[in-house]
Amino acid sequence: MKTELVFANLSGIETELLVVTAADSQTEKGADAKPKPGLLTSDAIVTAAAAAVLASGEFKAAANETLLLHAPAGLAAKRLLIVGVGNAAKATQHSVRSAAGTAVRFAKPRGIRDIAFALAEAAELPPGPCSRAAVEGALLADYDPDTYRSDRKDQSIYSFKLAALAGTDAAAVELGYAEGIIVAESQNFARELVNEPGNKLTPTILGQRAAAMAKTNGLKAEVYSTEKLHELKMGAFWSVSQGSEEPPALIVLTYEPEGYDAATYSGPVLGLVGKGITFDTGGISIKPADKMELMKYDMAGSAAMLGAMAAIGRIKPSVKVISVICSAENMPDGKAQKPGDVQIAMPFKEGEPGKSIEIINTDAEGRLVLADGLTYARQLGCTHLIDAATLTGACVVALGPVNAGGFSNDDETFEKLHKALDISGEKVWRLPLGDEYFDQIKSDIADIKNTGGRWGGASTAAQFLQVFAGDTPWIHLDIAGMAWYEDTKPFIAKGPSGFGVRSILEWVRSYEK
Ligand code: BES
Ligand code: MN
Ligand code: ZN
Repeated sequence: MKTELVFANLSGIETELLVVTAADSQTEKGADAKPKPGLLTSDAIVTAAAAAVLASGEFKAAANETLLLHAPAGLAAKRLLIVGVGNAAKATQHSVRSAAGTAVRFAKPRGIRDIAFALAEAAELPPGPCSRAAVEGALLADYDPDTYRSDRKDQSIYSFKLAALAGTDAAAVELGYAEGIIVAESQNFARELVNEPGNKLTPTILGQRAAAMAKTNGLKAEVYSTEKLHELKMGAFWSVSQGSEEPPALIVLTYEPEGYDAATYSGPVLGLVGKGITFDTGGISIKPADKMELMKYDMAGSAAMLGAMAAIGRIKPSVKVISVICSAENMPDGKAQKPGDVQIAMPFKEGEPGKSIEIINTDAEGRLVLADGLTYARQLGCTHLIDAATLTGACVVALGPVNAGGFSNDDETFEKLHKALDISGEKVWRLPLGDEYFDQIKSDIADIKNTGGRWGGASTAAQFLQVFAGDTPWIHLDIAGMAWYEDTKPFIAKGPSGFGVRSILEWVRSYEK
């Protein structure tokens, strides 16, 4: 999809589909309150073209509701599509993101290949953030997970124009537009990785894809395997990969801000740690067959970090970022680890003993690879950590496919993520950590065990990770319920979501000087 930014009057734009947003300005409540849909444009010709249908009451301007008019009077456009953003007082840039996405997904199956999307004119919808959101929504909506379909029909939109009125704050619109492209392309990169099946994306291949991405985006990349895991004494990470024919990959990407000098840099060093299980069979504690195919998305945490790093390399914030990705395949095999085995995690300091872990369930493998990933990130000098992982089914049970679970040992650090969500439009709900959860993962024979019993599974998993984050300010995102959409939404395809890329990026940017 080619994108373009134009400053023009809507009525003169030649396009197959002109899209304008509409909001419901009804403020009364109650059963009798009728919706008051109104277009978010000051263009008199567009307003006149839509007047009759808006007056009919057929269209209520609910979020992502659509209404199509052919040959709209007085417009150069062949069609006019009105997309609702819901209640006017509650509409945000995220409503605009969804509306732009809805327009693209409306057009795709209808053979419409060229769209002009009018930037909303409304006091509550600032042009900069809304430009960004509109381009993001469009590019995210254009993506379909159809890589492996031989009958793949090219239904992509060829051209997407973002149309702003002449006189709109051009600098803000241009910046938002440029950032929107970067962010959406990075998120789509994450989605492509998540969509790859286990036989096409092994840890080794993930390492190659990460290195190639790093090269394009000006990041330093190091990709290690078995030998390095042994050298670093990453006993927890290795224990997961030992049952697979596929070697593990430890991927380290580094972003250094402009003018970076290791000797004088005194800013924060942010550590982005990702779970990269390219397929999770459960290991010897093997999973049931039903829906097991979805466990190809067990590397979505690492994809989120790689997507965020791609955007960081292009947006160039003034803060150092290191991403540590721990990738392995969790398989049952003659060499696989067994319940009851004891593994020694990577020691934080040379000469210190690593924590001993009793393996209760080999399917609780994400926390094992992340344990060593977090320790390594701290050892590399990270001052703040964030990890993302499809970690527990318990988190999906608790929050559904609506919110990711968020955990943190530091309120200030979590607050920064919370603020980032206003920009990203993603949802994260904070869940508790605490000593009582730690009691659940005490082992009789080792320092800790890798499962905490039936109750509070998302929290006991997070509590396990906290042992390895130590005192370093840290956030854990459990994205098990968010990384793969089971249902189609009007603005995005079902399948890999790329969840986390936008929020992690904004969290990183919140540390800029
Ligand atoms: N990858 C799974 C978690 C998961 C479940 C992700 C559903 C996406 C959707 C993880 O490795 C796992 O198997 N967790 C176990 C932990 C249990 C054995 C303590 C779980 O949640 O059942
Ligand atoms: Mn598992
Ligand atoms: Zn897993």
